[in-house]
This record gives sequence, C-alpha cells and structure tokens, in this order.
Amino acid sequence: MSLDVQKQAVGEAAAAMVEDGMCVGLGTGSTAAFFVKALGARVAAGLKIRCVSTSVATAELAASLGMTLLDLNDAGRIDLCVDGADEIGPGLALIKGGGAALLREKLVWEASDRCVTIADHTKVVKALGAFALPIEVVAFGHKTTANRIADVLAEFDIGMAPRLRVKDGQPVLTDGGNVIYDVACGVIAEPSALAAALKATTGVVEHGLFLDLAEEALVATLDGVERHYP
Ligand code: A5P
Repeated sequence: MSLDVQKQAVGEAAAAMVEDGMCVGLGTGSTAAFFVKALGARVAAGLKIRCVSTSVATAELAASLGMTLLDLNDAGRIDLCVDGADEIGPGLALIKGGGAALLREKLVWEASDRCVTIADHTKVVKALGAFALPIEVVAFGHKTTANRIADVLAEFDIGMAPRLRVKDGQPVLTDGGNVIYDVACGVIAEPSALAAALKATTGVVEHGLFLDLAEEALVATLDGVERHYP
C-alpha cells in the first residue's frame, strides 16, 4: 500500500469524525489535503460546517470544494482541528512545520477544543528530532536571530547550526511573511525546555514543537488506521 493510499485512509477516517454544525480547523500538507478533500465530498453531499484554514494553500483548496471559510477572528472556538505532522513522538508530542505553516497551524490548534493529527506510520518516532525542527523567524535581521538561536541550541547540546530554508535560491516566506530556519537536532532530549527557550528568543515567532496539544493521532499502517492517545 503506497504512502498516498495510507494518507488518504487517515484523511477519510478523520473526515468521518466531523459532525453537522461543527466549526472545523483545516490543517496543511499532503495528508491534511486528503482530509480536506474527503470533508469537501461530505459538504457536497449536504454536511453543514464552517471551517478555518491554517494556510492560504489549504484555504484555496477548501474554497475550490465549496467549503465555507471563516477568518480565525470570527470563528470563536473551533470544535475540531485535523492536521498532519512531521513527527509523532511519545505522548503525542509533535514536530510540525515542514510545510512552513506552523504559526497559523498553532494559532488554529490553540483555538480548538479538540486537535487530531493524521499521518502515515513513517511519522511515528521513539524520540523527536530526526526531522529538522522548523523555527519561524521575523525576516528583519533574521541572521542575527539565527545566531541567538544557535546559542540557545548550544545550551541543549545541539551543535547543528540553524539552516535558512531556501527554495529556488530565495528564502522561503511563510504566509505571514516570515522566514524559516530548520535545525537538525538529532534527538531532542528536553522538548518542553527547548520550546520555552526558543519562544523566549527575540525574533523567533514560533517553533514547530507541538506539545500537549494533540488529543488523538490517526496513524495509517499497512493493516489499517490505528488510533493513538497521549
Ligand atoms: C505544515 O506546515 C506541516 O506542519 C504539515 O502538517 C506537516 O509538514 C505534514 O505534512 P505532510 O502531511 O505533507 O507530510
């Protein structure tokens, strides 16, 4: 079974969790896109929901499927947010942001009563850190911020320098106009302490550690969809 078939299976399983009248957070990335498409099919069949997107790309997909989109400012509480992950560690600690949407994702997750992550089985790890940790940084003076991030990482015995994410020779800009630095941490031994230290660094807008946020993970395996809890 290909990874795309597995991603589609978890996307469809998550779409089946949505109930009439809900306000739904729509994640970003290839797995979340399967969720949005499956949910769009339910909307076309008569499901009445309102949605909040975590990125411009997902908003465009949802709009193309005829889904009703709200600005986060107007949504109030979101009933259920479904989003992908780059790594799923113990306790459903996650790394996110491979698609550069981590800031809007975290804003929507924190406005949600229930957050469910969906992924294929390759995303489940024993310890976070093999996937490079994305850190969103204000574009103004970003190299000086990166130097301070390196100092913070050194306190955690992480020796790898933050690498500016570049595409076609240009820094990748997020939907909010910020840049991304990726850090190949290896193993993140103290995720909570690292998260707090990064948040306290001037110029850092957000990091990709999503801790104590996911209530459930739907993980696609060759044998079907598994449900994981913290
Ligand atoms: C977007 O910024 C990310 O957080 C994605 O949710 C994450 O990268 C998972 O993407 P895929 O489903 O494409 O692997």
